[in-house]
Amino acid sequence: MEYNCSLVTVVVVFLCGFRVCFSLTSDVHVKNFISWDDIKVDEHQTRLSDSRVNHNRSRVIVVNKNGGADSVTVQGAIDMVPENNTRRVKIYILPGIYREKVTVPKCKPYISFVGNAGQMSNTIISWNDKASDKDSNGINLGTYRSASVTIESDYFCATDITFENTVVQTPGEPGMQAVALRISGDKAMFYKVKVVGTQDTLLD
Ligand SMILES: *[C@@H]1O[C@H](CO)[C@@H](O)[C@H](O)[C@H]1NC(C)=O
Ligand SMILES: *[C@@H]1O[C@H](CO)[C@@H](O)[C@H](O)[C@H]1NC(C)=O
Repeated sequence: MEYNCSLVTVVVVFLCGFRVCFSLTSDVHVKNFISWDDIKVDEHQTRLSDSRVNHNRSRVIVVNKNGGADSVTVQGAIDMVPENNTRRVKIYILPGIYREKVTVPKCKPYISFVGNAGQMSNTIISWNDKASDKDSNGINLGTYRSASVTIESDYFCATDITFENTVVQTPGEPGMQAVALRISGDKAMFYKVKVVGTQDTLLD
């Protein structure tokens, strides 16, 4: 299928609204709501030596694609979060283009993606799958598996990050659904993020 780059329409979605949900729980250790603190990273906490679980404080994992931090990839940082975690884990992503397909699995709630304030457009998680691409079994990915970033878990939040799918096409072309951000978890908050793609950019 041919497409002409001059016909490409780039859809930019700014999600400046946010949703904050509360629910009560008998477990006092679990904070079942999202607060502004959850998208703030204490600079002192980001030093390598401090990026461990610090009992009641949230944990910070630092991602720098150039090395020198806890992980060079966003997925690498997610993989460091224990399954069934009950504490907030902030993944602090330094500016750069992270060319990777990222999934936050259902069993890892309370994750934050935090970019540098003012660096939203320079902190990009980017991939280029589309619905008609095949998986390793030769089956079409379909729209929902085309997502560059997939959030399956609850209590996710993000700020100062761009989510991108770089597939270019004429809007409406079949098989060209190319999701930048898919979220299936409950109770998420997005503040100052950019979601960039050409078809089915945001799927929730
Ligand atoms: C940590 O949280 C637990 C449960 O809420 C509480 O009992 C404990 O005193 C806290 N510890 C510190 C150092 O704040
Ligand atoms: C996480 O919870 C699920 C569901 O309760 C359980 O099947 C799984 O074994 C747990 N994983 C760990 C590492 O505790």
